[in-house]
Amino acid sequence: MKRSKAELLISAVSPDQFPTKGLPEIALAGRSNVGKSSFINALLNRKKLARTSSKPGKTRTLNFYEVDESLILVDVPGYGYAKVSKAEKARWGRMIEHYLMTREQLRGVVQVIDIRHPPTDEDVQMYQYLKHFELPIIIITTKADKLSKNKRPKHVKQVREGLGVRKEDKVIVFSAETGLGKDEAWQEIVALLSD
Ligand code: GTP
Ligand code: MG
Repeated sequence: MKRSKAELLISAVSPDQFPTKGLPEIALAGRSNVGKSSFINALLNRKKLARTSSKPGKTRTLNFYEVDESLILVDVPGYGYAKVSKAEKARWGRMIEHYLMTREQLRGVVQVIDIRHPPTDEDVQMYQYLKHFELPIIIITTKADKLSKNKRPKHVKQVREGLGVRKEDKVIVFSAETGLGKDEAWQEIVALLSD
């Protein structure tokens, strides 16, 4: 797979809109504004495929991006954004939970964490939740360009310990800005498809 072809299949607001082709799926998870949509763009070498914003709360639907006619990346609304109404939060939460728990073609989740900060309680909850449902996880510590190289290992350790990352889970240092880690991330995603 060369990641040469990528297109938005649908921005879904309810499960009846989810694609029915049966292609394997990899979903994103992470705090609002952490860089989930930017991760998709960097990974697929596209500037504006997934919509991004400097303001949190940009992604508000489940967006299914088909890649090379062989896999679907699913961008999701972030958690932890205070300005979203309680009702909307509850609706997203239900939709994402329903998706994660019932989606047969879901092969794994890319959990995106800001490399600069310790994981939040919600990050820890999400990690434990994914573990509970035995979903394979790839941890992406993003915005690495905002830290000098020699500081990164200490921050990766902080993320590993904060989340309680198990041995079997990969932690990849990433930057959507410079492209650091994107080939490694892609390899890990492809590996999940063949498991
Ligand atoms: P929601 O859709 O609100 O959940 O946010 P998101 O997680 O999709 O974040 P998004 O990709 O929209 O990025 C949020 C902001 O972070 C944007 O201003 C991006 O340009 C910036 N950003 C994302 N990744 C990186 C990165 O690796 N380095 C730097 N410097 N900025 C980044
Ligand atoms: Mg987004």
